[in-house]
Amino acid sequence: MLEAAQDNKLVMSCGAAVTRNFSRKNGIKCRYSCSRKGTIGSLRWPSFSLAMILSPLSGLVGFAAAIPSSVGSRALSTSDDLLVSCPGYTASNVIITGSGLTADLALAGTACNVYGEDLTSLTLQVVYETNDRIHVKIQDAANSVYQVPESVFPRPTEQAGNSSVSILFKYTESPFSFSVVRAQSGEILFDTSAASLVFESQYLRLRTALPDSPNLYGMGEHADPFRLNTTNYIRTLWSQDAYGIPAGANLYGNHPVYFDHRLTGTHGVFFLNSNGMDVKINNTDGKNQYLEYNTLGGVLDFYFMAGPTPIEVSKQYAEVAGLPAMQSYWSFGYHNCRYGYQDAFEVAEVVYNYSSAGIPLETMWTDIDYMDRRMVFSLDPERFPLKMVRDLNHYLHSHNQKYIVMVDPAVAYADYPAYQNGVENDIWLKRSNGSEWLGVVWPGVTVFPDWFHENVQEYWNDEFTSFFSPENGVDIDGLWIDMNEPSNFPCNFPCDNPFQSAIGYPPTPPEVRTPPRPLPGFSCDFQPPGTACNETQKRAFTEVQELRSSPQIQERRSSGQQLGLPGRDLLYPKYAIHNAAAFTVEDNALGGGISNKTVNTDVIHQNGLAMYDTHNLYGTMMSTASRDAMEHRRPSERPLIITRSTFAGAGTKVGHWTGDNVSSWEKYRISIASMMAFASIYQIPMVGSDVCGFADNTTEQLCARWAALGAFSPFYRNHNGFVPNIPQEFYRWESVTASAKKAIDIRYRLMDYIYTALYHQTQDGTPIINPLFYLYPQDTNTFGNDLQYFYGPSLLVSPVTEEDSTSVQAYFPKDIFYDFYTHARIEGQGAVIPLTNIDVKTIPLYYRGGVIVPQRMNSTMTTTELRKQDFEIIVPVGSDGTAAGELYLDDGISLVQKATTYVKFNFDGSVFTMQGNYGYGLGVKIARIVFLGVGDKTNATVSADQLKSVETGNRVEVVIGKELNADFSTSVN
Ligand SMILES: *[C@@H]1O[C@H](CO)[C@@H](O)[C@H](O)[C@H]1NC(C)=O
Ligand SMILES: *[C@@H]1O[C@H](CO)[C@@H](O)[C@H](O)[C@H]1NC(C)=O
Ligand SMILES: *[C@@H]1O[C@H](CO)[C@@H](O)[C@H](O)[C@H]1NC(C)=O
Repeated sequence: MLEAAQDNKLVMSCGAAVTRNFSRKNGIKCRYSCSRKGTIGSLRWPSFSLAMILSPLSGLVGFAAAIPSSVGSRALSTSDDLLVSCPGYTASNVIITGSGLTADLALAGTACNVYGEDLTSLTLQVVYETNDRIHVKIQDAANSVYQVPESVFPRPTEQAGNSSVSILFKYTESPFSFSVVRAQSGEILFDTSAASLVFESQYLRLRTALPDSPNLYGMGEHADPFRLNTTNYIRTLWSQDAYGIPAGANLYGNHPVYFDHRLTGTHGVFFLNSNGMDVKINNTDGKNQYLEYNTLGGVLDFYFMAGPTPIEVSKQYAEVAGLPAMQSYWSFGYHNCRYGYQDAFEVAEVVYNYSSAGIPLETMWTDIDYMDRRMVFSLDPERFPLKMVRDLNHYLHSHNQKYIVMVDPAVAYADYPAYQNGVENDIWLKRSNGSEWLGVVWPGVTVFPDWFHENVQEYWNDEFTSFFSPENGVDIDGLWIDMNEPSNFPCNFPCDNPFQSAIGYPPTPPEVRTPPRPLPGFSCDFQPPGTACNETQKRAFTEVQELRSSPQIQERRSSGQQLGLPGRDLLYPKYAIHNAAAFTVEDNALGGGISNKTVNTDVIHQNGLAMYDTHNLYGTMMSTASRDAMEHRRPSERPLIITRSTFAGAGTKVGHWTGDNVSSWEKYRISIASMMAFASIYQIPMVGSDVCGFADNTTEQLCARWAALGAFSPFYRNHNGFVPNIPQEFYRWESVTASAKKAIDIRYRLMDYIYTALYHQTQDGTPIINPLFYLYPQDTNTFGNDLQYFYGPSLLVSPVTEEDSTSVQAYFPKDIFYDFYTHARIEGQGAVIPLTNIDVKTIPLYYRGGVIVPQRMNSTMTTTELRKQDFEIIVPVGSDGTAAGELYLDDGISLVQKATTYVKFNFDGSVFTMQGNYGYGLGVKIARIVFLGVGDKTNATVSADQLKSVETGNRVEVVIGKELNADFSTSVN
């Protein structure tokens, strides 16, 4: 949903009447007054690195000694003048431990106290956690400074290594700095001598030197190029309700991780810190390239991941952030949504229209329109009466379709159960005087759940159990959570008169109407008087299984107190991050701008933590609580939950849509970079953008292209903003219908291939989506490419990206590719090949040679039907004439699978084999195998029973017709 302010007055009479030209600053004169707990591993310390670590003391020439300590100050630009007098730290008492070292750090001179007070004594802790990961933590000796709680971000386990570590930690004692280098080559990956370390009560600075023109990725959430700008660039991390997903701004979620890709290898750096921050990437007049963290608090907690390939860094980051959740098979179906459906009738009519148009619709969604005056856990009794919603739900379920609705965290400050139950459980965020902290969201004045409260899970479970009850509530199949930055958009800081700010909220609801026309197949409530109709049959409820106790929120204060330093100014830090929700950058300091349009940062949680420190965790904590609540009501199912705000690790619980984008070609293009970042870097693979665009009117052409592009993102949902936006369901235009049908047909045939890719990612972090450089890390042409990508390990997607164009300058790395549609072979030359005459219904797709792709023979209207279709196995051989692939099958829905099927395909140039285990019986066949690029093997001799072969040109088709339940092989000679 959105936030839409103009002239400091909300133009929100029902929604997104906001134009592309909207800028929050336009005309606004008024200021604000208007467990994976680690055990110490038995990693043996490799002797060579021990020597190097000790080098500053022992006189061995280590890296540290080679770097003059003055580099740092020389590298500083004048804009850092204030910090020039900061003395840095001196290390002492260095103790080598079994798997790393510890040291004390003392302030090396007179405190500079620029943005707070310099801490005088810190500790350094270094742990070689695996052969490929080093954990470096610099914190206060008193252990009072806030750290991201284990309950929110469980720490990774250490694995005993075999002593061949691939990266090393080195340090200089005075002034203290450290570096991380590759063990083999000595290449410097990270080097903090670029500037003196600053560790103040409300400000941390750490700068690393980088090579010139580095290839950096990550640091989201953002709508900037996938490969980050390297000069004069600021990435701000501070959750914001970022309507229109502007470039150059902080958006909804926070992933302080970057990948640094070099021809010598790729490594990753994760900064485990949830405080507001500016990450500056810049150089000084073309020299001294750097990346610098400027953080409002927390500790310096880093995980260095060695790679050396991009995919290995992804896998190593998954070990830190957690492996992503497996999703249900149906979640890969096509989803439709809109903000502004007038009533249950309109929702039902859309379902009906999709089916009449022959466009597969797996899941229908409802935005906040269903709520009674926008209050969560309520139904609009006139427009979305319970009986109609339940009949609609029943209709969908009886057609093998699904239903999802939105839930926001803010609960209306009104006399109704969802609010009262929260009062009884005492779970609302409070002011310092003990009264509820009131803000303003869609329903008007609201309260906000305290996700750290000991009773909050029970409250949330109970609301879900009753409101989403299969017996007498809204029996949703998945969940959409929004506004969880948290957004408090109509109430500017300090938000001390929410009742005034709430004028105009909730917006006037649309007209109440009786069903305007017959809707065949729906119950009598959906029909105009006098229409022949049937009542909904006795409902076939989903079997509700025995409720299991919900996982308890973990221990709250796991290490020391870590509640945050006392005496901080929680509203007005001196350092101004570049949070775009403030009216000016400067307001982010003494103007209280970090609290603008969200919950004030001086709010203290029940467990003593301050919103100042935890703001960036709010959405991810709501995600976890919501997942627990969804599992509580359907304990055996994988719940599909799509959230707007995320923090590192969110993928272990939920998926993400990239928020309120705009129906523009620019946002169509940037949707590729966002998808790549979430799937391949942040480990949140179930991701996609609002197809056809959310804000503003789409166009037929944009929607047709986007229908096809969106079909090749893991999460595929058309979502539109409020009237007066024109409608954009896929059946609205002939060309869009045709494009969508064609793309969905392909997506569905490839569903098991992509489901297998997701499964693979849930097992070891191998990404479902591959940026080009992931698969061609030595090809410099791929490093900045964010308009093409691989959907799974094989399928190269090269969409048309410009308006009124029917061509695309597609880059083909030096490799073998095969046109998905014609099977024509293309030998990539590491050059652009113009693809022309791409009509609006077509998206260019190529198989990558060497990867075997299992496909369904036919697409269907629902994924339930799809699971009954036979397979064909596409074997596009690579340059060496071989290919390999895999297929994972399970029941598609259970959290705990009783039995699964996993097979590997291999083709060695003459013999194709399928080998694996066949625990899950699907009852479908492998109809045929299609070999591509096998040359003139005109007489395929095939060894299995009842086989026939057909040969056409470059392809050999072998009819198999065997049930997918046993190993087999066949040769092609
Ligand atoms: C990134 O660099 C591009 C190209 O120089 C520029 O157009 C864009 O504005 C920059 N983005 C940001 C957020 O600085
Ligand atoms: C980048 O460095 C230049 C000096 O080379 C400086 O003028 C500019 O302000 C810096 N930009 C940022 C965002 O720090
Ligand atoms: C009502 O149900 C009966 C029996 O299933 C069916 O034959 C008839 O067509 C239905 N009528 C309508 C209007 O849907």
